Amino acid sequence: MSNRTFTMIKPDATKKGYTGAILDQIIKAGFSVKAMKWIKLSTEQAGQFYEVHKERPFYPELVEFMSSGPIVAAILEKDNAVADFRTLIGATNPAQAEEGTIRKNFAASIGENAVHGSDSDENAQIEGNFFFSALERF
Ligand code: CMP
Repeated sequence: MSNRTFTMIKPDATKKGYTGAILDQIIKAGFSVKAMKWIKLSTEQAGQFYEVHKERPFYPELVEFMSSGPIVAAILEKDNAVADFRTLIGATNPAQAEEGTIRKNFAASIGENAVHGSDSDENAQIEGNFFFSALERF
């Protein structure tokens, strides 16, 4: 069981002004912020981050969307962080997300689904390292 995960608040949510409300829900659920930045990815950077999905039909759309506006990237800490954060955000497709989850509250579609959450401890580490140096986290 790890105590850290990685998240992004995606361009659909930052553009709609949901950043504060999403962070509030994350913090009220017991996560503490260990690193955070507000940035806009280039198409190259978005493509690199999601390289694992390169062969999927939705990859071009995903890269285009994730570089279409600012995002908030963060490392979060809590006991059982990866699993608990995935419960908090709900299913990838907001139509299937549980009531009260972040995606149910704020996401529009499977592509524009408001937030990302790491799916394993290993990926949490890799994804956090993609955005943050040792100096930028505590
Ligand atoms: P995320 O958790 O960030 O990880 C991969 C992303 O790919 C996922 O959220 C969705 O935003 C996106 N995705 C997954 N399936 C589809 C799909 N069928 N169409 C468009 N985007 C998708």
